[in-house]
Amino acid sequence: MALRLSNEVFTILTAVIEERAGLHYKLADKDLIADRVSARAEGRGFDSLLDYYYFIRYDPAGGEELDNLVESLAVGETYFFREPNQLDYLVDYVIAPAVLAGRTPRVWAAACSTGEEPLSLAMLLRDRGLLGAANLVASDVSRRSLDAARRGLFGERSARALGPHLRPGLAPVEPCEAPGPRERVRVDRDLVDSIEWRRVNLLDAEAVASLGTFDAVLCRNVLIYFRDEVVARVAATLSGAIAPSGVLLIGASESLLRFSTDLACEEHHGVFVYKKGRS
Ligand SMILES: C[S@@+](CC[C@H](N)C(=O)[O-])C[C@H]1O[C@@H](n2cnc3c(N)ncnc32)[C@H](O)[C@@H]1O
Repeated sequence: MALRLSNEVFTILTAVIEERAGLHYKLADKDLIADRVSARAEGRGFDSLLDYYYFIRYDPAGGEELDNLVESLAVGETYFFREPNQLDYLVDYVIAPAVLAGRTPRVWAAACSTGEEPLSLAMLLRDRGLLGAANLVASDVSRRSLDAARRGLFGERSARALGPHLRPGLAPVEPCEAPGPRERVRVDRDLVDSIEWRRVNLLDAEAVASLGTFDAVLCRNVLIYFRDEVVARVAATLSGAIAPSGVLLIGASESLLRFSTDLACEEHHGVFVYKKGRS
């Protein structure tokens, strides 16, 4: 059973979570927060959520625990070939032309969760003989998700957009050889190894700047968890990570149009992309 969570403790706990990772919670989420935070707090030997709050806020070891709490709260929903028209666009109109022009394009999948998104891109590139011709970077705030990505083993839900025959790059794992009951699909090792996996918090502008600039940044289905002020801040940080003629792609249900950023939304080949150029 969850520990008691007063509205006051809910407010200070969710504020510290939001400060760390941007994730925003409303009072309607109180039961979810009580369950998840109680599980972490009790695991650390606390029987009061206020004491746990003091620990994550002020104790020298609290920062690491706060990261673990964020991991337990973050929604990591993702699957292979999600919103595939954006991936095809990147290959056909960003990566292939850059390679043809003799450059090594750089692509960053920010907030990649367990990696299905950049791995789908790697599969498309390998199909086209372009794997290795582009520099792929993928990141998330969650260490656990990145570890799963590096293992290259996935559950059936990750392949749900593919139908029964999977595709080159993916192979079924026999239940007897899977380390866990949910791991059913294996990604070819060369695809996993073609990606530089990094832990990056999108709120950490310095960490983002250290990645350099990219021809394309994919930041899909994460901005929805942030409040407007945080979206505006992250959009400014992402804008700094886009090369002058580069593009930013966000999720189909997300928009930056109501924010004042230096990014302009354009439709290219049926895909909405954000480009620098608005003052
Ligand atoms: C719903 S998944 C999206 C995965 C993938 N981009 C897609 O569209 O399928 C959201 C991911 O955002 C990550 N995330 C949340 N807050 C973050 C932050 N502040 N910095 C980096 N990643 C974050 C979560 O850990 C989670 O893996």
